Amino acid sequence: MTEKDFIPKPYSSALEKGSFTWSSPSNIALVKYWGKKENQIPANPSISFTLDACKTTTELKFSKKSNSCNYSFDIFLEGEKKDDFKPKIETFFKRIEVYLPFLKDYHFVIETSNTFPYSSGIASSASGMSALALCLMSVEKELNDKNVSEEYFMQKASFLARLGSGSACRSLQGDLIVWGNHNQIPESSDLYGVKYPFKIHKKFKNFHDTILLVDKGEKQVSSTVGHNLMHNHPYAKQRFEQAHDNLSKLKSVFKEGNLNEFIAIVESEALTLHAMMMTSMPYFILMKPNTMEIINKIWKFRQETGLHLCFTLDAGANVHLLYPEKEAEDIFKFINTELVAYCQNGHYICDRIGFGAKKVK
Ligand code: DP6
Repeated sequence: MTEKDFIPKPYSSALEKGSFTWSSPSNIALVKYWGKKENQIPANPSISFTLDACKTTTELKFSKKSNSCNYSFDIFLEGEKKDDFKPKIETFFKRIEVYLPFLKDYHFVIETSNTFPYSSGIASSASGMSALALCLMSVEKELNDKNVSEEYFMQKASFLARLGSGSACRSLQGDLIVWGNHNQIPESSDLYGVKYPFKIHKKFKNFHDTILLVDKGEKQVSSTVGHNLMHNHPYAKQRFEQAHDNLSKLKSVFKEGNLNEFIAIVESEALTLHAMMMTSMPYFILMKPNTMEIINKIWKFRQETGLHLCFTLDAGANVHLLYPEKEAEDIFKFINTELVAYCQNGHYICDRIGFGAKKVK
């Protein structure tokens, strides 16, 4: 598939108004996307677990307007009008208009809500942009008299979500999604996410992700700025190669269920992501003292118990704790007694691996 394959032929049906609702989850990368080229093309392939509990539900209402001069939309978060979200949506619409030429023909009302608090530091762009892309695809499907295969629908929705926020293209399906060309993953593409095509060992079934909310404040440096700092970064080339290697290594980990190897790759990826931030120019640090406290506690716990608890990080201070279902009881006790103290107001979110977006109506 190329970009051109997502430009639609003239639509076969007319549509006055309607509404669609989708809910779409967040995801957590194991091999990180950090660095991009023009048009939201990733500098390296990434792979993520789709989450289950952390999700956004978006209702898109649309009604035909008399002219097609401008974009016209209102956006609400939890019932509250959010004009400050408008520039991001407008940028998204501009990027995708060539692929959805109906965007200026309708007035849209976008009503969105998250299962997690907006200010929790959990990125809502992945779940939010994927939910919106799916709603827009439902409109297009209607304009095509429903004449669209399920496969094309999901592929194009992921393609569109990517243009809203890169990592969003990994949120539509589950349970393990690859985005970005990789020579050992057939069908992998820079343009959209694909399901990891090989067998996954049963140890990864129902894998847990407990998210420790260390710092719920606004990020000081946005992901977009961070990605751009990978241009001319002194370690960029090696980093991008490392991501390819780590994805290759994960293939045998997923096949054989080697949790120790899994931990080594995932933690190294998280720390490398933050090392890239610390070594860019300008440099910045998103980890907080409590992030470090948690990491050290995890390492000590693992040494003492041999249990397979590991961490990963997003572009922020929060810590995602990943662990297998089989060890969940003991690990959860440890989280509660030793780690929750490092969370802001004791807040954390219990999530686990999930299977992607759902159409609500
Ligand atoms: C650190 O997808 O938020 O979470 O494409 O600029 O919207 P944009 O960036 P975004 O970057 C997320 C980066 C990350 C790692 C990852 O999810 O792979």
